[in-house]
Amino acid sequence: MPTNSEKRELVFATNNPHKLSEIRRIVGDSIRILSLADIDCFEEIPETAPTLEGNSLLKARWIKDRYGKDCFADDTGLMVDALGGEPGVMSARYAGPDCSPEDNMTLLLKNMTGIKNRKARFATVITLIEGDKVSTFTGEVAGRIAERRDGTAGFGYDPIFIADESGMTFANMDADAKNAISHRGRATAKLLDYLKSQISLQST
Ligand code: IMP
Repeated sequence: MPTNSEKRELVFATNNPHKLSEIRRIVGDSIRILSLADIDCFEEIPETAPTLEGNSLLKARWIKDRYGKDCFADDTGLMVDALGGEPGVMSARYAGPDCSPEDNMTLLLKNMTGIKNRKARFATVITLIEGDKVSTFTGEVAGRIAERRDGTAGFGYDPIFIADESGMTFANMDADAKNAISHRGRATAKLLDYLKSQISLQST
């Protein structure tokens, strides 16, 4: 455990600059968040589990076992009711193994052509490994799939996901507004509450 003068370090098992800046913005100064590049990890971490929980555990375990660092990993899926929960755990590779976010959105909009029920939700699972201890945090946001792209902020499926709570696509919301209601924002808030409770336990 770090002393009060040392800032705690945690590896976030990602190199996605959007996710890193989202999480760093939420965490603020309390914890130093390292990326995979910061620990010289440039390998492709397998995401072969059939569930979000399984994939987030695979990624966190990979870092802990090979680099010996406390870390957390997230896995996110977009579940669309009318498509039986697809793309779900396949969200990143919906349009194929090397597809872009643009390809994924194009395919999803195509598969939703003529469909009235556009209900969908994003879900995130975060797995934290500290020493031998494994903890899981989840977050969800309900919404619907837009008829067409709208907005330029964010990443991934943001231009076509309209959050129920805002009535806007995530790509039309600023970062703080998105974080306040998003799947990852909610899962991260739970992670932070947990980390903060450890810090206060330490100082009592
Ligand atoms: P990952 O598990 O975080 O890599 O995400 C799986 C897929 O969901 C990828 O295609 C991401 O681009 C997408 N995704 C994850 N988080 C978000 C988000 O906050 N907004 C839009 N798309 C997201």
